[in-house]
Amino acid sequence: MSFARRIATVAALSAVVAGAAGVAHADGNAAHGKELAYTCLGCHAIEDYKNVYPTYSVPMLRGQNAAYIVAALQGYRSGERSHGTMHAQAASLSEQDIQDIAAYLGSDPLKASGNPPAAEAPQAAQVCVACHGSEGVAMLPEYPNLAGQHADYLERALEEYKKGARKNPIMAGFASTLTSADIKVIADYYSRQKPGLEIVPRRASRFSAR
Ligand code: HEC
Ligand code: HEC
Repeated sequence: MSFARRIATVAALSAVVAGAAGVAHADGNAAHGKELAYTCLGCHAIEDYKNVYPTYSVPMLRGQNAAYIVAALQGYRSGERSHGTMHAQAASLSEQDIQDIAAYLGSDPLKASGNPPAAEAPQAAQVCVACHGSEGVAMLPEYPNLAGQHADYLERALEEYKKGARKNPIMAGFASTLTSADIKVIADYYSRQKPGLEIVPRRASRFSAR
């Protein structure tokens, strides 16, 4: 795809996603979400915790966008995203539970510093910054923040989009244009951006203490 066409595609897709976003808008009760999220801490509140078979880091959620957390949990529940444990976790949650958990976990989303990143975004990421920002802070809350995320998790996610194990149509298109070498460079770049995502704090007070 030519660069100009890619940009046109990005603009069109952004409009589609923004249009669908009203549905995913997080509108939950954070206090109830905190209670529900207790079981999630066993994996998401532990430094450098790994998924096994295959081995890769459990994604960090602190600083993530609430609307994206809603979409991710709905994706696990419906099977658009395949992962045994997360499917089991999401399957037991009602629509309201998902909104409540997202209101809690997504209460402190990253904000772009506005300063140019220390190193320029790699060539292969030129098209990505339209949605994920050059700092890895998303342009819309429906997109995930990537800054500071574990590089091996970002790699895994992109490989999964590429081979169709994650079925999101927008990302399938963008990931399909990347080589494995591109994916490594991009994952490394976004994982180094600061401020970045962190593990879920064990105590809620840390949410407001940044
Ligand atoms: C046994 C460990 C474990 C538990 C418990 C767990 N998770 Fe996860 N979670 C994971 C792993 C591993 C992934 C990455 C799966 C993948 O590759 O898609 C993940 C992914 C996610 C994502 C997607 C993150 C992203 O960047 O796309 C969200 C949101 C999430 N979990 C929320 C929760 C919530 C909410 C709970 C509790 C109801 C929970 N998790 C419980 C291990 C766990
Ligand atoms: C039009 C906007 C858009 C563009 C451009 C875009 N993305 Fe995405 N990206 C998204 C959306 C929306 C999702 C969430 C998809 C889902 O629910 O699985 C996503 C998800 C991701 C994820 C998964 C994050 C996680 O926490 O699991 C990664 C990694 C990612 N994108 C990297 C990239 C890269 C690298 C590029 C450029 C090659 C790119 N994106 C281009 C919108 C975009």
